[in-house]
Amino acid sequence: MKKIKTCLIGFCILTIGCHSRNQNTNTALGLKDYYKEFFTMGVAVSPRSLKDSSKFITEQHFRSVTAENIMKMGPIHPKEDSFSWRYADELIDFAKERNLKVRGHALCWHNQTPEWFFVDDEGKDVSREVLLSRLETHITEVVTRYKDDVYAWDVVNEAISDDENEFYRNSKFYQIIGEDFIPKAFEYARNADPEAILFYNDYSVVNPIKRKKIYELIRKMKTNGVPIDGIGIQAHWSIYQPTATIIQETIDQFENLNIDIQITELDVSVYENSPRREKREDEIDDFTDQMRKMQIEKYDTIFQVFRKNKDKISGVTFWNVSDKYSWLDNFPVKGRKNYPLLFDEKFQPKEAYYKVIFFN
Ligand code: GLA
Repeated sequence: MKKIKTCLIGFCILTIGCHSRNQNTNTALGLKDYYKEFFTMGVAVSPRSLKDSSKFITEQHFRSVTAENIMKMGPIHPKEDSFSWRYADELIDFAKERNLKVRGHALCWHNQTPEWFFVDDEGKDVSREVLLSRLETHITEVVTRYKDDVYAWDVVNEAISDDENEFYRNSKFYQIIGEDFIPKAFEYARNADPEAILFYNDYSVVNPIKRKKIYELIRKMKTNGVPIDGIGIQAHWSIYQPTATIIQETIDQFENLNIDIQITELDVSVYENSPRREKREDEIDDFTDQMRKMQIEKYDTIFQVFRKNKDKISGVTFWNVSDKYSWLDNFPVKGRKNYPLLFDEKFQPKEAYYKVIFFN
């Protein structure tokens, strides 16, 4: 068995090497091939990563792409009467040329919204009617433009509160419209594209208290006939959490609702969760041996659970391509290097990668 594994690793290194020498013949096996019988493997990309070496990883290892930022409300709809399609169009072209699916992210989110969205010419909050109409226009325009190209949308992102005593996040959408901005957003999306798979997407879904609220939100929407098709579990996890049991409990709970489940933003931080702060001058942010070992184990655990649930999970998307760049380099600690992905800063597969692909 050990011999076979060594051979396979050798083969893999060889094929990855071949691939980088001859970039037009993309015959080397990648994550997407090892997981063909399980679920679609996806990755979040940025305009920069479509141009640098990350693009070879994307081509070789993934079958689906998500825009890390460029389809969010602010970047794509900077002014009321003008959309900025350029980068999203480039992503769609990139995906089409390589036969990749595109997950749309995100139609309605409290963050990265354009400044004009909630206020009138005098800077005062708009009425509920005006905000609903802006939301409808935004969703209709974006979804219609990419109707033939985007197969699934994160329609509403992060609308549930982290506060145990509160159900909804106290966002501008919630303050001005009330809780029905959520079902309305799904209706606008469905009207614009009856074929797209529509997701509610959030973080800390494994947290039992927050999970219960998300479950309740989706259950209520389903009962009321709101067109929601799935739950997006972001999965910004770490080498310390969550356990296999908690991941399994989460999947089982949403399976109850008979909806699609996707892991939409997977990364495994090498640090414990902490409040937001700046990196301290004397702080060392090397990828230590202990972090490396714990990360291999955590990726192994996570993918064991995912594989076991292949009939319930339809997609797993990593949040960024490689450790060269991750949003976690600046969150929650600004300027502290993180190493959360399966490919290193030089775009090479890490040991955790081999753990994820050699599961037999
Ligand atoms: C959330 C959002 C993503 C992204 C990450 C950080 O998870 O859904 O779009 O902003 O935070 O990169």
